Amino acid sequence: MRRILVTAALPYSNGSIHLGHLLEQIQTDIWVRYQKLYGNECYYVCADDAHGTATMLSAEEAGVSTEDWIDRLREEHIKDLKLFGVEHENYYSTHSSENESLTLGIYKKLFDSGAIFTDDVSQLYDSSKELFLADRYVRGKCPRCGAEDQPGDNCDVCGATYAATDLIDPRSVHSDTQPVLKSSTHYFFDLAQFADFLREWTTSGTVRDDVSNKLDEWLDAGLKPWDISRDAPYFGFRIPDASNKYFYVWLDAPIGYMASFMNWCEESCVEFDDFWQLHRATELHHFIGKDIINFHALFWPAVLKCSGHRTPTRIHVHGFITVDGEKMSKSKGTFINAATYGEFLDPETLRYYYAARLTPTINDIDFSFADFVARVNSDLVGKLVNIPSRCANFLARGFDSRLATELSEPALFDEFAQLKTTIERLYELGDTAQVVREVMLLADKANQYIAANAPWELAKQGGKERELQNTCTLAINLFRSLCVYLKPIVPQLVQRSEEFLNSGQLGWNDVDKPLLDHKLGEFKRLMNRVEQKQIDKLIEASKDTSTPEPDPMPDIISIEDFQKIDLRVAKVLDAKLVEGADSLLELKLLVGTEERSVFAGIRSAYKPEDLVGRDVVVVANLKPRKMRFGTSEGMVLAAGPGGSDIFLVSPDKGAETGMEVR
Ligand code: 2FM
Ligand code: ZN
Repeated sequence: MRRILVTAALPYSNGSIHLGHLLEQIQTDIWVRYQKLYGNECYYVCADDAHGTATMLSAEEAGVSTEDWIDRLREEHIKDLKLFGVEHENYYSTHSSENESLTLGIYKKLFDSGAIFTDDVSQLYDSSKELFLADRYVRGKCPRCGAEDQPGDNCDVCGATYAATDLIDPRSVHSDTQPVLKSSTHYFFDLAQFADFLREWTTSGTVRDDVSNKLDEWLDAGLKPWDISRDAPYFGFRIPDASNKYFYVWLDAPIGYMASFMNWCEESCVEFDDFWQLHRATELHHFIGKDIINFHALFWPAVLKCSGHRTPTRIHVHGFITVDGEKMSKSKGTFINAATYGEFLDPETLRYYYAARLTPTINDIDFSFADFVARVNSDLVGKLVNIPSRCANFLARGFDSRLATELSEPALFDEFAQLKTTIERLYELGDTAQVVREVMLLADKANQYIAANAPWELAKQGGKERELQNTCTLAINLFRSLCVYLKPIVPQLVQRSEEFLNSGQLGWNDVDKPLLDHKLGEFKRLMNRVEQKQIDKLIEASKDTSTPEPDPMPDIISIEDFQKIDLRVAKVLDAKLVEGADSLLELKLLVGTEERSVFAGIRSAYKPEDLVGRDVVVVANLKPRKMRFGTSEGMVLAAGPGGSDIFLVSPDKGAETGMEVR
């Protein structure tokens, strides 16, 4: 029996659980449920990620103490996750005594081993609030075009990028006062000391190739020191022997995995050390999204290694979620919270749909409403639940709900049992999309068997009682095997089925042993179809009516003015992050036969890898602009208020690069 500790990334304490969190929590929960069902010892812990400036500011805005705020959110998160059948051994908080003492202990080890050094960093400072300002908290006049009220890293109007210190008349968003430049000492973790270890670790089966390739890019570029400190005021743990400094939220967040487990171990008979000390025969698995690979596959293993702990066995990385092919959007009603989903749809429909889409790759996963409705209705209702609903009544009416004493076609039952090792391998890999495909192929076979033996015909004919009972007995046994295979994915549907089967909880090995000469429970409807109107209501209820209306139309211009703008179709050949510019991506565009380099302020909305190959519209005759990071030779068109709501303008299929847009 394997002994396994599992975690999912910790949701921040400043917003509700939504479809994105649920993707990962459900994926992890399915993996854990499978391990337990198989017979392994497996524990799943999680927590709220409580620290950081954002939490502090959200609490302030809500007018409550930070402690009250994080407690309130944690309760809400626990309730939402439970609704979706996500079962943790413990759902704790990083703002806990266990986490504080573990963080201090680990920091001491890092410090004593010479992996911590200090350096001075100059940053804008709000003297009235006595607060250092991250770029997003400074606004002012664009140094290039003079547009008012622009953020501290790039101009939303002309696209120029700059340092927050370049803004004309900069203001702190917190106090509307002018910030001053102030230097402060920061604490750094010297990641480069662990380069050799990380190269070895990341290529030793801990991550899949698609992830280790990504990691190679960082390792090849050279590992930079990691700033693990923040100045007061900050919500977090104080750094010992430093005046008014706190640990950066990302230092103590993964330690929160340990703390949550430690807190649970205090009440159970499981040994904490068995899962965190070196050379123990246990496994540690982290499930994360691809946006936080660096924290989990570089910083975290280095911190564990340096502090004398075991390192993770495997990091399971998933892609981003899109809804109908696009990023979740509050204004479109596709930014869907867990609680809202639960008001209109059965939470298990989401578990099933996510399982049907999840593979072990880092490819993005699309929640397509049409596909969702089709799959739930045709697979779960039309194929799976259809099996007992076609047979149960005949057994109830003619045989007092009793199954026959033997299987009429044991080969068919065995065929279902033989898939067990395949399903085991697929669950272990995290390929639930393939699990679902395999199980639905079997469900088709079960339905074909019923159609071929037509119990409704047998029931009409006299003297066919034995055949009727045999047919229904085999069909119910096939259904039971499918329930075993799907139990990690739709546990509540299977629980209702277990009540009908009336033989206790299904175990993994039940696929090998038929249920015979046994009285079934009462058959009740196991699952309802999903209707389009439920989806319509869900989208309507998810629309954020507080989203600002689009800006009023600007002053009119003449057609001659407009004709001066040369808009062209362009293809994105390459896209990358711009170091030191939080909001920018550097795009390499093909415009006709010409290659152009363009800086675009779309990083908050797009991942570079998702842009490559996509067509965009570019202002081709814009005078090249020198920026801090290079020269921008054009501008790509996008709509939206900013942040994650930026939508690139693209031509329909068929438009060729270089074509004029008119
Ligand atoms: O990205 C996030 O949402 C973080 N709160 C995840 C933290 S995971 C872990 F390291 F704690
Ligand atoms: Zn500007």
